[in-house]
Amino acid sequence: DWTMAAFRAEAVARIRAQVGTGKVICGLSGGVDSSVAAVLIHEAIGDQLTCIYVDHGLMRGGETEQVVATFRDRFNIRLVHRDASDLFLGQLAGVTDPEKKRKTIGRLFIEVFEEEQGKIGGADFLAQGTLYPDVIESVSATGGPSVTIKSHHNVGGLPEGMRMQLVEPLRDLFKDEVRALGRELGMPEEIVGRHPFPGPGLAIRIPGEVTREKVQVLQKADLIYLEEIRAAGLYDAIWQAFTVLLPVKSVGVMGDGRTYDNVCALRAVTSTDGMTADVYPFTMEFLTRVAGRIVNEVRGINRVTYDITSKPPGTIEWE
Ligand code: XMP
Repeated sequence: DWTMAAFRAEAVARIRAQVGTGKVICGLSGGVDSSVAAVLIHEAIGDQLTCIYVDHGLMRGGETEQVVATFRDRFNIRLVHRDASDLFLGQLAGVTDPEKKRKTIGRLFIEVFEEEQGKIGGADFLAQGTLYPDVIESVSATGGPSVTIKSHHNVGGLPEGMRMQLVEPLRDLFKDEVRALGRELGMPEEIVGRHPFPGPGLAIRIPGEVTREKVQVLQKADLIYLEEIRAAGLYDAIWQAFTVLLPVKSVGVMGDGRTYDNVCALRAVTSTDGMTADVYPFTMEFLTRVAGRIVNEVRGINRVTYDITSKPPGTIEWE
């Protein structure tokens, strides 16, 4: 009779046996998988684990603070928080092609990760939140087991010279089991129940050039949208919900004046694996409430649309 408590105890024993007295590093993304992996490994080996959180400045509003507070303060995990937003946003200046954005972010991610890893004197093991579906996918794609930093970060493989053994304690689990394990480990619901979030972050939700100002505008709109979704009790019924800042300006009225600001698109889909997705059927009352709040509370946005495209033929993200 298999329970999460038993899995937890076995996993801890396996991690201890594999790692011995070695040092482990783990890249935290704020997502469910790397978060649960980190807490589980920390339970097994304590301060032999160091987490590295590469902050590209493209996270949702408040998320970085939440990651730091959760892991450092609540779980007492050694955490390197590297604010690399100047570097990422600097290198993204003038980049408008979606794939070029991804490549730029993936490359910088590795650079910064390696740098931070060097600063702490390296490690013997690299921890990853690889899940069973990731294992299956990479075996079928490459004909052999994968050695990658999670595709989460859009990294094709371990950098040359990063010769560490992998610690992958979630390899046998599906997503819902990882969430159950996270709850078993006492992790907050905001982390274990979190919607998937792409590695390149808000960069791919800002079609066209990404700037710090646009990121800030989008973060504000996103926070309002998600706040309303939570308040309506809809968060867990939705696979992903987010705002997109369109590089389109439209005319509006505000008081006695005329505005000329950007359009914001709302996206919300249901899905089981992200491969196909259906539009979430919000009520018109809900949508107009969100639109009203965003236009009134976020400077820089004066019009809101709802994306009603399913996948296929659309994709979930806009880029
Ligand atoms: P699409 O937009 O292809 O997205 O329908 C399917 C799922 O993948 C996520 N996604 C990404 N995740 N790096 C990631 O780690 C990426 O570059 C990326 N692009 C899309 C998307 O959020 C959805 O969950």
